[in-house]
Amino acid sequence: MSEHHEPADEVLLEGEGWTEVYRVGDTVRRPARPQTATVHAFLAYLNQRGFTGAPRPFGYDPKGREVLSYVDGVVPKEPLPGWAAGERQLAELARLIRRAHDAAEGWDPPPGAVFGSIPGPPQQGTEPLVAEPELVAHQDYCPGNVVFRGGMPAALIDFDLARPTTRVADAVNAMYWWAPLCHPQDRGPALAGADAARRVRIFADAYGMDEVQRSGIVDAALRRQRISAVTMRAAAESDPVFRRWWDEGMKDKLSRAESWLTAHAPALREALL
Ligand SMILES: Nc1ncnc2c1ncn2[C@@H]1O[C@H](COP(=O)(O)OP(=O)(O)OP(=O)(O)O)[C@@H](O)[C@H]1O
Ligand SMILES: [Mg+2]
Repeated sequence: MSEHHEPADEVLLEGEGWTEVYRVGDTVRRPARPQTATVHAFLAYLNQRGFTGAPRPFGYDPKGREVLSYVDGVVPKEPLPGWAAGERQLAELARLIRRAHDAAEGWDPPPGAVFGSIPGPPQQGTEPLVAEPELVAHQDYCPGNVVFRGGMPAALIDFDLARPTTRVADAVNAMYWWAPLCHPQDRGPALAGADAARRVRIFADAYGMDEVQRSGIVDAALRRQRISAVTMRAAAESDPVFRRWWDEGMKDKLSRAESWLTAHAPALREALL
């Protein structure tokens, strides 16, 4: 994409991660990454299939950054504010993810596709979260990656961690952040007292999960939590940003989440079925 603008036209957008994202008119510019071409092919497919809840990809700018459409709206941050944490918002997020999944069906990653991952070498000895992928999906539904309009989830951004997965494994990522599936001590005030089992059920209902999907959720969440602990530890060993997060409490948060999930697995299973 070629166009002329002064540096002053670039507005730095505030995220919670480490990516420098600039808004330029109706577009955003993000650093290109090894997976960017694959992500653009995926975004183009979603858009072509009529899914409007994702940025449109416009290639690269003269500085080599990726160019995406600017998605209008409000992006919450951790801790999730009350206005974004209601049951209606949760159900709408589940429906948005369902539409993304349905649109993603049938996408064959191009030859040589590269998928993003947490920094660090692939982990020896961890079971893969997904044995047989069904589709490519977002896999990173932290509050900072969901755009709200009119007080409701309307779009997803930051597809850097999109990869082949299953509908259930992808939904479990969203549930981790939005039910949430972590220890009350690690939740913001809006969700500290939330009934996570009830909220997982609301998500599954709004998504339209069948019995088989519902019965797979808790096991997938437990597996995801165990894998997270291993991959985050490895990332902390190889990446300074992850090292800081790890030292600043991620380590304890992950182990508390695993204990909490193990203790609440029966209640979650019961709510789902
Ligand atoms: N296409 C977009 N449209 C509108 N706003 C965007 C878009 N992409 C990013 N933003 C804004 O910039 C912020 C940071 O973007 P992004 O999520 O891409 O990076 P990040 O969170 O820093 O990276 P990471 O998730 O890898 O840590 C978002 O929270 C959002 O406010
Ligand atoms: Mg992000």
